[in-house]
Amino acid sequence: MLQLSQVHYRPAACPKDLLNGINLKAEFGNPIVIAGASGEGKTSLVEVISGLSKAQKGIISWNNKALSPRQRRWLCGVVFQFPERHFLGLTVSQELRLGHRRLSTEKQTLVLKKVGLSDIDLRQAPEKLSGGQQRRLALAIQLLRKPKVLLLDEPTAGLDWSVRNEVLGILNKLTNDQILIIVTHEPELFHNLSSKYLLKEGSLKATPTSKKS
Ligand SMILES: Nc1ncnc2c1ncn2[C@@H]1O[C@H](COP(=O)(O)OP(=O)(O)OP(=O)(O)O)[C@@H](O)[C@H]1O
Ligand SMILES: [Mg+2]
Repeated sequence: MLQLSQVHYRPAACPKDLLNGINLKAEFGNPIVIAGASGEGKTSLVEVISGLSKAQKGIISWNNKALSPRQRRWLCGVVFQFPERHFLGLTVSQELRLGHRRLSTEKQTLVLKKVGLSDIDLRQAPEKLSGGQQRRLALAIQLLRKPKVLLLDEPTAGLDWSVRNEVLGILNKLTNDQILIIVTHEPELFHNLSSKYLLKEGSLKATPTSKKS
């Protein structure tokens, strides 16, 4: 179980705390969906949880053991809101093989197929892909990496409805093996995933779920 207790975060140039005492428990089989208006700090929360930004106060623990940001970078994988800022490989194939040097072409093609990218050229530069394709490539990379905690920042943004449904289907399948934390402008798309929260004025509030719809 991943737990946040009284996490406070203020970016360097920010006059006040962006995250102001965040409490959250995330468990296997119980994906978390966090909604919030633009600028409320959703991406910042993802960065803090995954150890990319350092909270000024509070504890983030895994199975009741507090973890440093460095330990959380190992524990967590992130599908970023703007994945193009984070690609390192010169080609799609290189990107998929980071950390999996011997990954066969068949396995690369298979994981790309899972995210609906069967038609792309493995030799293409990741930055040349469309925004939606880049997001799916970022998801494919995390499907290979299989982090215990998978954070997804606006995973459905810029996807057309058929691809969006594919991505939602993939996420539904992951929920028992990975702890999923999804931040989104479109919480209604995740109606069959369980716990929903709203990030507002630095705090997280649970919102009622409508599982039937
Ligand atoms: N490193 C930083 N330094 C200064 N201000 C920052 C920093 N990071 C984020 N902010 C500010 O914090 C606020 C929240 O940013 P964040 O990107 O976390 O919001 P968000 O909820 O993800 O927004 P969106 O829905 O548009 O993606 C913004 O006003 C942003 O300008
Ligand atoms: Mg954001």
